[in-house]
Amino acid sequence: MSTSKPAISSQLLIGRVRPENSVLLAPMSGVTDLAFRRIAARTGAGMVVSEMVASAELARADDEARLRAEGSGLDIHVVQLAGRDPQWMAEAARVAVGAGAAIVDINMGCPAKKVVGGHGGSALLKELDLAVRLIAATVAAVDAPVTVKMRLGWDDSSIVAPELAQRAEAEGAAMVTVHGRTRSQFYEGKADWSAIAAVKDAVSIPVVANGDLVALDDATAMLAASSADAVMIGRGAQGKPWFPGAVAAFLKTGVRPAEPSLATQQALAIEHYDGILTLYGRDVGVRHARKHLGWYIDAAAETVGEDAPRDLKADAMTATTPEAALSALDRAYSTLAWRAAA
Ligand SMILES: Cc1cc2nc3c(=O)[nH]c(=O)nc-3n(C[C@H](O)[C@H](O)[C@H](O)COP(=O)(O)O)c2cc1C
Repeated sequence: MSTSKPAISSQLLIGRVRPENSVLLAPMSGVTDLAFRRIAARTGAGMVVSEMVASAELARADDEARLRAEGSGLDIHVVQLAGRDPQWMAEAARVAVGAGAAIVDINMGCPAKKVVGGHGGSALLKELDLAVRLIAATVAAVDAPVTVKMRLGWDDSSIVAPELAQRAEAEGAAMVTVHGRTRSQFYEGKADWSAIAAVKDAVSIPVVANGDLVALDDATAMLAASSADAVMIGRGAQGKPWFPGAVAAFLKTGVRPAEPSLATQQALAIEHYDGILTLYGRDVGVRHARKHLGWYIDAAAETVGEDAPRDLKADAMTATTPEAALSALDRAYSTLAWRAAA
């Protein structure tokens, strides 16, 4: 058991918002809905961020956009906005804050063709003047901290994150998060944590490092390489909403927290499943929850060092009713518990 206490320089302060710790759950479209964020927050994530929400749609009170921006029950509710029109983004920020958001985050990192094609997300890394106008309009619109999430740049020959972060700070942004990849990399290769250090050098607002934090030791290595003030976890929390909390505990104490027991993991999976059905309704919820069930079974298999039971995982992920899905899930956990004990 390691007891060396890795240092995080000081408590994270985002404008006037002070999270309990410096380990944040990343926004993930189609994944970090309210059901997921509530569990991640309760199990110890310092802050959780909504899926990206299209500004114009939130400003027009579109139902799906409102659902994505839901945050009731969260201590610190962060809504991430996407778009490229300063007026819509400002209006969406007002709507989000009016509905309880404590922080508004702006997406300047999404590489998806649909978002980039509309010139939002990481396309803004090629249009810094527009990116800065978006930040200025959003900061002016709300009395809540505005933060920016970006990639390093569009490609290796245009690493703009330090400049964008500096200009964001000058416009009043309260924090920046940097995913240590370029847009051209999509999710390929390895995130470059040391490249984030140049952003930290360029600004005095907090910098959050993001990309490929999937194990406790990654957190210490990422902080050492980037000198960042905080870390953000995305895919490493899929099927493991407790993982950001575990990383926070590790960074605080230097002691490796035990993995939750399979019984605890199953209870969280069921709570998450019920939360999804409540959010989306039964039919949409059953379909939406499938990927999560697969991830939960993979996480349980990893905990006990076994392969995931493929047939049961397939049953859980193709079930057409909650009863059948939860029954397959139950059999998957029992099989893993039995194999681990054998
Ligand atoms: C399924 C999925 C959806 C994502 N959606 C968003 C999003 O809505 N907004 C955003 O800023 N980043 C989004 N991201 C990027 C993550 O927030 C994060 O920057 C990236 O996954 C790298 O971190 P990780 O290696 O810890 O996953 C998404 C990533 C994934 C895998």
